[in-house]
Amino acid sequence: MTQKTHFGFEAVSSFEKTRRVKDVFRRVAPNYDLMNDLMSLGIHRLWKDHLVWRLDLPKNAQVLDVAGGTGDIAFRLAKTYPHLNLRITVCDLTPAMVEIGRDRAINQGMLQNIDWTCGNAENLPMADCSVDLYTIAYGLRNVTHIDKALAEAFRVLKPGGKFVCLEFSQLTTPLLQRAYDFYSFQLLPALGEWVAKDRNAYQYLVESIRQFPDQETLADMIKAAGFSSVDWQNLCKGISCIHTSVKQK
Ligand SMILES: C[S@@+](CC[C@H](N)C(=O)[O-])C[C@H]1O[C@@H](n2cnc3c(N)ncnc32)[C@H](O)[C@@H]1O
Repeated sequence: MTQKTHFGFEAVSSFEKTRRVKDVFRRVAPNYDLMNDLMSLGIHRLWKDHLVWRLDLPKNAQVLDVAGGTGDIAFRLAKTYPHLNLRITVCDLTPAMVEIGRDRAINQGMLQNIDWTCGNAENLPMADCSVDLYTIAYGLRNVTHIDKALAEAFRVLKPGGKFVCLEFSQLTTPLLQRAYDFYSFQLLPALGEWVAKDRNAYQYLVESIRQFPDQETLADMIKAAGFSSVDWQNLCKGISCIHTSVKQK
């Protein structure tokens, strides 16, 4: 029997979910960076900065940015810690996103700082215990089997390695929820239609946020994957959240 999961609010097979997610990001890739700025009024930049600034990394650390898309996290890491000589790999499911990331790297003269590869978070093209830092920003929500992605994160991290996930989450203030729902369900898809000419992709974005586990549930899943020191920090009352944990030595 085919395993069922969801694509936004629609029940689909696991295979179909992965196919549709890849298709969504293929379609949105050309407008992805612009839409992020428009949808969040630039605030996603501050959240990503915050993720990167709070890190404590060793010299020559191997970093894996999963679902790294057009490279927002990877570029920040390379620019914030030039003295650490980080070895950064971006791994993403969608070739169109990776291509735009590589083009950005070329334009910024940073091609030598970051490796770009296509791959699935559920089956990473990395050796066991090879990574010091695993990051995933706004990616885990799109992965078909979150538990498999977490197991893979655990596998590729070295003992002592860190897991950091930035993701949309659940609001902690009910009053804000109504305004957020109006913005999400009325304005966002319309903006997607107007700018990216793709209402469905942005409808998926909104629905996928509602389907994603809340802070506590995700923390439990991270623990179940074997991680220790599991913690989270809400950003803007839980609109986004940074989950952190460690693969114990
Ligand atoms: C919302 S974008 C985030 C991109 C980037 N991390 C950022 O913060 O701007 C989500 C990315 O996840 C990727 N993705 C979705 N499912 C994936 C999977 N199973 N494995 C790896 N990447 C995946 C998509 O291709 C897309 O580039």
